[in-house]
Amino acid sequence: MCNSKLHNFLERLPKVELHLHIEGTLSPELLFKLAATNKIELPKSDPAFASPEALQARYDRFTSLSDFLHYYYIGMSVLLTEADFTFLAYEYFSRAHTDKCVHAEIFFDPQAHTTRGVAYETVVKGIAEAQRKAKEDFGITSKLIMCFLRDMAVASANDHFTLAANHSYFSDGTIAGIGLDSAEVGFPPELFRDVYAKAKEAGVHRTAHAGEEGGPDYLSGALDNLQVERIDHGVRLAEDAELMKRVAQEKKLLTICPISNVKLQVVKAVSKLPIRKFLDAGVQICFNSDDPAYFGGYLLDNFCAVEEAFGLSIEEWKGTAEAAVRGSWADQERKEEILSQIDTYVSNYN
Ligand code: HPA
Ligand code: ZN
Repeated sequence: MCNSKLHNFLERLPKVELHLHIEGTLSPELLFKLAATNKIELPKSDPAFASPEALQARYDRFTSLSDFLHYYYIGMSVLLTEADFTFLAYEYFSRAHTDKCVHAEIFFDPQAHTTRGVAYETVVKGIAEAQRKAKEDFGITSKLIMCFLRDMAVASANDHFTLAANHSYFSDGTIAGIGLDSAEVGFPPELFRDVYAKAKEAGVHRTAHAGEEGGPDYLSGALDNLQVERIDHGVRLAEDAELMKRVAQEKKLLTICPISNVKLQVVKAVSKLPIRKFLDAGVQICFNSDDPAYFGGYLLDNFCAVEEAFGLSIEEWKGTAEAAVRGSWADQERKEEILSQIDTYVSNYN
């Protein structure tokens, strides 16, 4: 419950989540439980792994993206079986449902699993089963976005694209697009030009993390070299007025993750994010949770944090909710259904 006047409005507003790493929904409790079940040894030398509580306390003081990524990759090492992925993803959907999320597009990091000997098929089949159940139980529609780890060799990204493209989860649309994540600075988008070109040719959607820790060059690099349809994070776009105009004109959606940006010290407080600047410049933005188990905030928490910091109007909230739907990769019929749910909800609110 936040202190804003619009809390009740935000709570029941139909929402779309477009920036969520499924591995980032692994809570310390589940991490310890799966480590025990799967007999995975956690690093004894790090006192953070003494207990779920100690780990949670460590999550409260991340110093940077790379500090977080260190724990993120150790954390996901406990995920081994198809059932582990199904459980993880179903827990996420059920939590998202309580926040009135009606459509979610979910990142996963295949390279972080195949390099530990977990088959690509195990990961995708596990998550796809949770997607099926979530649709049945909660009516949530969803898509998967396969991310490449930018701090791994480019050849590995190419190999994983080929692996995915030869699989039925590609042709049946379960995997709707590709993304680019992990350490940003030093791994510019242009490195991945070829694999993004192949994806475009195959009719696959494209997004990339850019402008989280990297500057505006990483954003223009992603737009020019990767032909992305949206940008994940992108908050450092505000440092380049010309580029901001271009992004507004081209209607490229930024999937902003406010609580993540504070936890990873991209900004000191949500109020320091350029959200007002983006809205005034006509940049399309939406709000998301990124890695909620690590950053301590799910979808509604992120909406509330923005409302407390900026006091957006109901019309502005409607605009960001609609921007998320329009920028999503749901089919046209589903988009119209969600847009109409939002419209009805907002009209009946006053
Ligand atoms: N940035 C980059 N890589 C990531 C993130 C993020 O916020 N979360 C999970 N992998
Ligand atoms: Zn992210």
